[in-house]
Amino acid sequence: MSSILAGVPPSPAADPANAFSKDRRAPAPAHPIDGITVAKHLRAEVGERAAALGARGTTPGLAVILVGDDPASAVYVRNKIKACENHGVRSVFAKHDASLSEAELLARIDALNVDPSIHGILVQMPLPRHIDTHKVIDAIDPHKDVDGFSIRSAGELMNGVPGFRPCTPYGCMKLIESTGVDLRGKHAVVIGRSATVGKPMALLLLEANATVTVCHSATPDLALHTRQAGVVIVAVGRRNTLTADMVKPGAVVIDVGINRDDEGKLCGDVDFERVRHVAGWITPVPRGVGPMTIALLLANAVRCARYRRGDLSFPGE
Ligand code: GUN
Repeated sequence: MSSILAGVPPSPAADPANAFSKDRRAPAPAHPIDGITVAKHLRAEVGERAAALGARGTTPGLAVILVGDDPASAVYVRNKIKACENHGVRSVFAKHDASLSEAELLARIDALNVDPSIHGILVQMPLPRHIDTHKVIDAIDPHKDVDGFSIRSAGELMNGVPGFRPCTPYGCMKLIESTGVDLRGKHAVVIGRSATVGKPMALLLLEANATVTVCHSATPDLALHTRQAGVVIVAVGRRNTLTADMVKPGAVVIDVGINRDDEGKLCGDVDFERVRHVAGWITPVPRGVGPMTIALLLANAVRCARYRRGDLSFPGE
């Protein structure tokens, strides 16, 4: 896949007075990794591609399906639709009651699969309990799999062939790329083993020649692993999973979590205020990984449309 970070200004070089230094004064705080800025550059590039396609008669079309009333999902979907509107992607939104049957949802997906004006299909997760998530993902035409959640996309990632990469871990890779830190030979620790973030994250890091450890709820001594890591990705969904004593000085820390603190403010899985005095680079929450997920979703939607036009031999190229 071609670099989609061309044009992103390089992040400042690591500060020699940072935590690596023998200087005994308080270490300088980590460089923040600004997801808004990186995503903005990526979105601008995607918007240009979408406009060029539009000028040739193909407006990229993304179907977005929301089932039920989960308030967080409603916010995510709203943000995705807004991003589409601002970047030349036509979104077709369908909101269904939580009582929608699995058969009805599968029928909706079948109709979208054969609709030539729809290039990508996104079913917002989580789905109500009575619907089998795997069946739903499997029903989406693999050429319209903008989320990169299908078995086919997972197999392509596993085998190192072009395909749709899941938006959140792919966005994390772009954030690491924006720091200028070379992953080759680095020890990367992923905390969390979900099929949508942790597992694909580990494979993407491997593809970039990192040495990868995946930790999870049954890992007895998490800090033993994280203290050795040059890169730590935390995708657990629990506040303060990564604290300052668990981080190697100078490490790159990527926080995928979205939680609320005691005052109801958004926070991630990392104890940001303390870890930022140890890490070399760190993503905040909000304004870190979140904006990248949406940017990569747009990128995948435009790839689907380019494939349909015959510009790509495979949509994930
Ligand atoms: N729910 C939370 N994140 C995601 C995502 O990236 N895609 C979909 N479809 N649902 C989600």
